[in-house]
Amino acid sequence: MILLTFLLVIYLLLILIFMFLIVFFISSLFQDAPFVPVNSSVLKKIVESLELEPGSVLYDLGCGDGRVLKEALKEVKGIQAIGIEKNILPFTLSKISLRKTSAKVILGNFLKTDISNATHIYLYLFPKIVNRLFFKFKEECRSGTRIVTCDFIPRDITPDKVIDLPLSHNGLCKKLYVFILK
Ligand SMILES: C[S@@+](CC[C@H](N)C(=O)[O-])C[C@H]1O[C@@H](n2cnc3c(N)ncnc32)[C@H](O)[C@@H]1O
Repeated sequence: MILLTFLLVIYLLLILIFMFLIVFFISSLFQDAPFVPVNSSVLKKIVESLELEPGSVLYDLGCGDGRVLKEALKEVKGIQAIGIEKNILPFTLSKISLRKTSAKVILGNFLKTDISNATHIYLYLFPKIVNRLFFKFKEECRSGTRIVTCDFIPRDITPDKVIDLPLSHNGLCKKLYVFILK
């Protein structure tokens, strides 16, 4: 009897988790950018393109599970890595993945967060939100801030550098675009 109750509780828990995941993925389709982490094979290239150095302050806007910040902290010592993520599931995954690092992850909306101390910014988001963010960068960030976007660029702004990612998968993460804020 105890075993049966235990199995029933486990079964109900699994159904609840499954339903939570379904709701999470359906609702994320209607957001600025769903949780689609960049492929691990391009992480090194992303960090290289950021040209970080000790003392750099790196933001990943919509940091997902925190993989870019983790790679950056592994590759370059002495940087500050900050992620902003508004969805609870990727936020929790990033907290777990970055628990042994110095990275700071903020649960919130990057449009409402002060990022004026950034020296480097990375983002992998849809064009509509990339446009809005570039207005924010111009108002808030200092000139010389290095911004790297994956696949999507803002309207009417020409990147300073374009990097092809030959290791891209499923048509995702094909190019990196580097912008130096004027
Ligand atoms: C395509 S994923 C990129 C994840 C990670 N940057 C990477 O490259 O692996 C975009 C992430 O941005 C988050 N996001 C979208 N809009 C946001 C907002 N306004 N504030 C904070 N996070 C946001 C989503 O929840 C999602 O996890």
